[in-house]
Amino acid sequence: MNYTKVTKQHFEDLKAIVGAEYVSIDKEQLIEYGHDETEDYSFPPEVLVKPANANEISAILKLANAENIPVTPIGAKTGLSGGALSLYGGIGLSLERLNRILKIDEKNLQATVEPAVITQVFHDECKELGLFYPPDPSSWGSCFIGGNLAYNSGGPKAVKYGVTKDYVLNLEVVLPNGDIIWTGANVLKNSTGYNLTQLMVGSEGTLGIITKAVFRLIPYPTQILTMLVPFDSPESACEAVSAVFTAGLTPCAMEFMERDALDWTIPYVDDFNIEVADSVQAHLLIEVDGNELEVLYKECEQISEIMLAHGSGEVLFADDAAQKDALWKLRRRVGEAVKSHSIYKEEDTVVPRYEMPKLLAGVKEIGSRYGFKSVCYGHVGDGNLHVNIVKGEMSDDDWNNKLTQGIREIFELTKSLGGTISGEHGIGYVQKGYLDIVFSEAEIAIQKGIKKLFDPNEILNPGKVFD
Ligand code: LAC
Ligand code: ZN
Repeated sequence: MNYTKVTKQHFEDLKAIVGAEYVSIDKEQLIEYGHDETEDYSFPPEVLVKPANANEISAILKLANAENIPVTPIGAKTGLSGGALSLYGGIGLSLERLNRILKIDEKNLQATVEPAVITQVFHDECKELGLFYPPDPSSWGSCFIGGNLAYNSGGPKAVKYGVTKDYVLNLEVVLPNGDIIWTGANVLKNSTGYNLTQLMVGSEGTLGIITKAVFRLIPYPTQILTMLVPFDSPESACEAVSAVFTAGLTPCAMEFMERDALDWTIPYVDDFNIEVADSVQAHLLIEVDGNELEVLYKECEQISEIMLAHGSGEVLFADDAAQKDALWKLRRRVGEAVKSHSIYKEEDTVVPRYEMPKLLAGVKEIGSRYGFKSVCYGHVGDGNLHVNIVKGEMSDDDWNNKLTQGIREIFELTKSLGGTISGEHGIGYVQKGYLDIVFSEAEIAIQKGIKKLFDPNEILNPGKVFD
């Protein structure tokens, strides 16, 4: 793409829109806003702008559209598919100042928030009122609701409660031409026109900038029980998972960690004091929630029986808060731990739940043929396996040249099992080269047509999802 470089005049125009203190061309700042959590990519914008509201964003997009300047929306920079990278320079549009919870409507069980509200902050504010906003990506202590909407983020609770899309009712969006629209209505049912709300969710900042979101909330469950289940065989752990659901049980978390994931992450958790036998190769972290402890104890018993029948070791019940906390810290920090352990690539495969053992076995088999090691973990209850390919002993040449083919094989396997290539991290910059595995030409063409309709000049988050 041929874009216009940001000039002194543009710099002045942007200052006139948002105020001088919210426009920066400071090199260090541009570098800071030129990366997210995706490997070690760095694509700084030419200018960083921090608008305060939808009107300012509208004016910025009008300017960018008239001048042919690319605009990359930037949230908390915790993304894992490179969605916030300013691939073509241009304007880096940080949403960080739109960070207010505008309303929690206890009468309707709804909340209206701005995009830069931190997910856990929103969750906690709702919880204070006995209300539950369930989506809880591992990065929820720092990620933004806007980013969760852009990628349709999930998290451990998704297995029972669904993902971001399942809670959003209505969005205020600034379109690339500067128009400000609402996508739906603040209602629980809606058969009125095309579903623009759900089109925006997961569109990775390529169709518009979300400036307000209305969510539905549910009552907060009062009781929660946590179990850690060791397995000598990772595949048996995966097989046990679908058996829980076919028995009619729905845990509120069903997470999987291979041994390496556990070992590499333990140093990141101060208070982890659980003995793990040498033979153990994987764990399931399982939770049930509700309001009646008796019912939950019964569910735990049934789950334990299923686990033992699939060859698990002794099930550990974490009933004190500190132990629960340590287990979740451990699980949530796996990504970070793998990242600092080795050069790596993270894939976000997802298959129908019952196919999970085949996916895991296939990933290992492909790895042994290409000479890479993988550390797998993730939301097995959802069939969502994070495959972390670590460079380890692989030569630079193989890593740079052969690995893409290995990843292709993993994705082709995923597709052949009825799955797809990203469950919750998005396509962004790093997966776009693999889209042909899961979509036909006609399927890609209709998506590109939607992009063209929203953003005919391709100024908004260019180079993401497709080329
Ligand atoms: C997790 C992130 C990486 O599940 O999705 O920890
Ligand atoms: Zn995840």
